[in-house]
Amino acid sequence: MSEAGGLGTLSSPTASGAADGARELRAAIDECAGLTSRPFAVNIPVDDRGHDPAQSFTRTFLEVVFQARAADSAVASQLRAITTAAGDPGAYVAVIKDNELVHQHKVGSTRQACKAEARGVDVIIASGAEMGGHTHARPVHTVVLGPNVTEAVDVPVVLSGGFRDGRGLAAALCFGAEGVAMGTRFIASDANTEWHPNYARALLDAQEGDDITYPGFFGPVRGLRNHGSDLLATVMNDGLAGASLHEWKLAAMRKAQAEGDTVQGLVLAGQVAGALTEIVTVAEFVPQMTRDALQILADLARRLPVAHATSAS
Ligand SMILES: Cc1cc2nc3c(=O)[nH]c(=O)nc-3n(C[C@H](O)[C@H](O)[C@H](O)COP(=O)(O)O)c2cc1C
Repeated sequence: MSEAGGLGTLSSPTASGAADGARELRAAIDECAGLTSRPFAVNIPVDDRGHDPAQSFTRTFLEVVFQARAADSAVASQLRAITTAAGDPGAYVAVIKDNELVHQHKVGSTRQACKAEARGVDVIIASGAEMGGHTHARPVHTVVLGPNVTEAVDVPVVLSGGFRDGRGLAAALCFGAEGVAMGTRFIASDANTEWHPNYARALLDAQEGDDITYPGFFGPVRGLRNHGSDLLATVMNDGLAGASLHEWKLAAMRKAQAEGDTVQGLVLAGQVAGALTEIVTVAEFVPQMTRDALQILADLARRLPVAHATSAS
């Protein structure tokens, strides 16, 4: 993604806070730095378990980032941004700034955007409820959330949720955003070498309306409606809860991602999955998306005066 001109973003390991998770993240950072000389970011969820922020897994993972940058000046020049998600980022703003990183924070409402801006984050990623993965308890769609947030805050806004091509990028720019953040589209791309090919296949096969939300780890997640999502409802009805339920969900996600069982496993994906028809090559797709957005905006600028003149006459 970074090589193609986007800001490639590493997600955090699921082994939260554990030494294993820290080692896994450090290895991923070093691997990423070896694959591109361009900027990339790391995504770290906010630990919402009410822990002392100094003891949280958020802090553990941030320390991994700081250490990786301190150890290697090339990594320091590339790894320039942190995206926090899924909680109040306030406790981490100062330490991220002190380490001279750009702090992006992901929100799902205008209220959260204003709060994050007041906390001092540098960039807001406003994600509409159609997004894949963890979504929001009070669903606000991207087309509504975008203009709401860009009107409400002064910091740069990146829009997310439901984007698939240059048309969406052009629309996001029209809403006052600086760009878009995409997840689901790139699961069905040549950049996804880690997950079983059946996962991307399931996204391509999905039709409009095939997505559903179900309880995730921080709130609702969006994925495809399948036997796995039905099974989740059944085990919850049967009383599975707490750590056992957590483990069940992780195993069901692994079943889809690693084993390619997209029938019994949980297939996290956004609503846009229903619109995807092909595996794309990131190196071609990302620059083309930018060119398409610019072309659309230029064409609109040419078309609008004509429309105006016609309606006036
Ligand atoms: C399978 C999957 C896993 C995701 N994991 C994370 C994550 O670990 N942290 C995070 O902040 N967002 C995560 N997301 C959300 C994406 O970062 C992004 O906000 C979202 O995919 C954008 O909406 P889209 O799916 O419509 O493009 C995930 C999304 C998907 C589909």
